[in-house]
Amino acid sequence: MAPSTLTALADEKTLQTSFIRDEEERPKVAYNKFSDEIPVISLKGIDDVDGRRGEICEKIVKACEDWGIFQVVDHGVDAELIKQMTTLAKEFFALPPEEKLRFDMSGGKKGGFIVSSHLQGEVVQDWREIVTYFSYPIRARDYSRWPDKPQGWIDVTQNYSEKLMELACKLLEVLSEAMGLEKEALTNACVDMDQKVVVNFYPKCPQPDLTLGLKRHTDPGTITLLLQDLVGGLQATKDNGKTWITVQPVEGAFVVNLGDHGHFLSNGRFKNADHQAVVNSNSSRLSIATFQNPAPEAIVYPLKIREGEKAVMAEPITFSEMYRRKMSNDLELARLKKQAK
Ligand code: SIN
Ligand code: FE2
Repeated sequence: MAPSTLTALADEKTLQTSFIRDEEERPKVAYNKFSDEIPVISLKGIDDVDGRRGEICEKIVKACEDWGIFQVVDHGVDAELIKQMTTLAKEFFALPPEEKLRFDMSGGKKGGFIVSSHLQGEVVQDWREIVTYFSYPIRARDYSRWPDKPQGWIDVTQNYSEKLMELACKLLEVLSEAMGLEKEALTNACVDMDQKVVVNFYPKCPQPDLTLGLKRHTDPGTITLLLQDLVGGLQATKDNGKTWITVQPVEGAFVVNLGDHGHFLSNGRFKNADHQAVVNSNSSRLSIATFQNPAPEAIVYPLKIREGEKAVMAEPITFSEMYRRKMSNDLELARLKKQAK
């Protein structure tokens, strides 16, 4: 049975069995053995069409083709806002369990607090607590599911959401142009772009070698912007998924990764980054993932198929159908693994 909060478990000597992963899923590389291979791209001058825009766009496009993941600095999101967002998030997770559980979403509620696994119904638990809210479209905001503590949370999170929506749209413009399409092509393909923010708190873990903070996955949506503290724990793969690297944290940077929707719309030209989060016994870690997703009814199909290429999908489907298939495949895999034991 999963605990309702993890913070209390952080000081235990051994890990509860519900968190213990099979050998092949356990971390292969240390949380703080950083690699600087993932490109870090400065966006300074991105709006200057007669200046650096071309050069910056080339770097972004190459990073999407090679990795599906990169970091951006000089992105225009105010450092003070980032600081407020991370400070308030830490304060939220430090609240007593009964306060956090006022927003408990384990009964299937949309938004709030939970000790969460990547997939509901999975046998092995992820070592993380999350608080999540749906910020776009604006009509989807349900403020009764947004924590009222710490003070200022709603104002700061709204402001943060708005700035991240602008940054995501700017990056999608670059990718649309790289595909030879008009710059609104990717955002238009999302119909009415959804945004969901997941704030992850990974408490210190008694036996971090046996578990994961967040299981290996690709994000389902178009593009994700991740803010992480300097502890380290985000890992990505290279060599076709064979080798893990720990992404070097860069103060104030956003890690950008392409999801399945972005991958399919580019007909596989842009990678959907395979990633996971590991935990450690020295300190807790905070990350804030902003998912930019298409509307459920948006059609998923390559926007452009280049000469000599075949479509990576057999037929156009809706995003909700794409998501349903992804989740049922993952659950089926987990079921088969359990059966084989
Ligand atoms: C995520 O993939 O959503 C979060 C990864 C991290 O916390 O580094
Ligand atoms: Fe992710």
